[in-house]
Amino acid sequence: MCNGLTPHNFRCRTEVTMKTEEKGNQNVDMGLRSFIKSLAYMTGGAAFLASTTPWLTSCTPEKLDEIKKEKARVALIGSGSRGQYHIHNLLGISHADLVTICDNYQPNLEAALALYPTAKGETDYHKVLEDKSIDGVIIAVPLYLHAQITLDALSAGKHVFCEKAMALRPEDCKAVYDAYKAGDRVLYYCMQRMYDEKYIKAISMIKEGLIGDIVGMRCHWFRNADWRREVPSPELERKINWRLYKEYSGGLMTELGSHQLEVCDWAIGMVPSQVTGMGDIVYWKDGREVWDSVNVVYRYSDGRKINYESLISNKFNGMEEQILGKDGTMDLSKGVYYLEDDHSIPGMRQLLDQVKTGIFASIPSAGPSWRPELKGSYVPHAVLEGKFSVGTGESMVSADRDGADEIRSAFCQSCITGEKAQNVVEEAYYSSMLCLLGNQAMEEQRTIDFPEEYKIPYLKF
Ligand SMILES: NC(=O)c1ccc[n+]([C@@H]2O[C@H](COP(=O)([O-])OP(=O)(O)OC[C@H]3O[C@@H](n4cnc5c(N)ncnc54)[C@H](O)[C@@H]3O)[C@@H](O)[C@H]2O)c1
Repeated sequence: MCNGLTPHNFRCRTEVTMKTEEKGNQNVDMGLRSFIKSLAYMTGGAAFLASTTPWLTSCTPEKLDEIKKEKARVALIGSGSRGQYHIHNLLGISHADLVTICDNYQPNLEAALALYPTAKGETDYHKVLEDKSIDGVIIAVPLYLHAQITLDALSAGKHVFCEKAMALRPEDCKAVYDAYKAGDRVLYYCMQRMYDEKYIKAISMIKEGLIGDIVGMRCHWFRNADWRREVPSPELERKINWRLYKEYSGGLMTELGSHQLEVCDWAIGMVPSQVTGMGDIVYWKDGREVWDSVNVVYRYSDGRKINYESLISNKFNGMEEQILGKDGTMDLSKGVYYLEDDHSIPGMRQLLDQVKTGIFASIPSAGPSWRPELKGSYVPHAVLEGKFSVGTGESMVSADRDGADEIRSAFCQSCITGEKAQNVVEEAYYSSMLCLLGNQAMEEQRTIDFPEEYKIPYLKF
C-alpha cells in the first residue's frame, strides 16, 4: 500500500512503473500526453496537475484528438544552430507544416532549407509577418532581437514561440508581457524543462511533500568550452559570436541560468526579492565581454536562497538543480532524489536499492560507525522508472529528451486551437528578469531589490 505522504511512501509510489511511450520522431505528439494522463492519475487527478503545471492542460491527449488532421502553418525566423534543431523536430510533428524559413545569413538559410526543402526561403522577417497564410512563428535569433521580433509578430496577428530569454533589457521584457496580456495571441518560450517529464514529476513530488519544507536551492552549470564559433571572415565576428558581446547577449545568466532559475521559482512558488553576485572573466580572455564565471545569490523574502553558479572552464560539477528540503534533496536535472534519513541505511541495503534503480553512489560496505557527511553517502532514488537520459549540460544546442520536442508540439497545437498555455509567459518573464537583475547586480557590484515597476500579478515575493 502506498498511501500518505511520508518520504518512505513516496519511494513506493515511484516504484510503480509509469507507462510512457517510446519517443522518437514519429510519436512526439503522444509521449508527453500519455505521461500527463498517467501523472494526473498517479497524483490524484487533473486538478492537482492543473495547480502545479497549468501549462499542460492545453496539450492533453483529448485536445490533440480534437484537432484531427489539421496542421499549423508555421515559419522559422533564425535558422542557425538552434533553429536547425527546431526543424529536425518539426519534421516529426504531424500537426505542423513549416512553410517558410527566414534568416539573413545565407549559409544558415541554405543549410536549413536543405533540411526542409518544401519551405520557402526568406531573408527579411517583416515579409514573413506580412504573409497572412502563416499562423505562427518560431523565433530562434540572438537574444537582443527576441523582444522586437516577438512584438512585431504579435502585432501582425501571429502566434509566437520564442527562444529564451525574453529580452536583453527589463523594459523590453515588460513590453512583451504587456503586449501578450493585451492580445489574444498565443506566446510560448522555449523553457523546455516545463515540459520535461522528470521535472514535472519531481516538482509534483516536492509539492506533495516528499522532501519536506524547501529550505534552499543550489543550481550550477559548468562546462569546459569557450563558447566561441569559427568565423569565415573578421567582419562576421559579432554576427556569429553574438553570445560573447554584451550588446547582443546576457552571457551565462540568460543563456544557461534562465532555465535553472525558472525551475527554482516553479518548485518554491515564489519569486526572489533580492539579488547580489559577482561576475568575472577568469579564463577565456579572448576579447569577449561576457563573464565566463558567475556566482549569484537570490534571496526570497522569507530568507530562503538560490545559490547560482556557472563556470565554463571546468566541467567537473556538470549541471545540477538541487532543491533542498528539510527531509531530502531533489536533483531535478538528474531526475534523482535523496532522503535525509537514508543516511542510516546499511551499506548492503543501499547497494540493493541502487542495483534496482540503476543509479550508483559510493557505499562503505564496512567501516567505522562515524561517517563523514558526504554527498556520496546518500542513496539516490529515481524520480521516474525506466531509462531517462540525463543531460550533461555540455551541448549548446539541446539535450536528448529534455522536453523541447513537447513544447514545440504544444505550440503547434495552440496555433490551431488558439488556446494559450497558462503561465508559460509568466514563468519566462520572471526567470528572464532574474537573469537581467543578476547581471545588473554583478555589473554594479551591489545588492538589488526586485523593482516594484517590474512586478506582475503572478506568484508572490
Ligand atoms: N532553449 C534552449 O535550450 C536553447 C539552446 C540553444 C540556443 N537557444 C537560444 O536560441 C537562440 C539562437 O541561438 P543559436 O545558437 O541558434 O544562435 P545562432 O547564431 O546559431 O543562430 C541565430 C540565427 O539567427 C539569424 N539572424 C540574426 N538576425 C536575424 C534577423 N534579423 N532575421 C533573420 N535571422 C536573423 C542568424 O543569421 C543566425 O543564423 C538564442 O536565443 C539562444 O539562447 C536556446
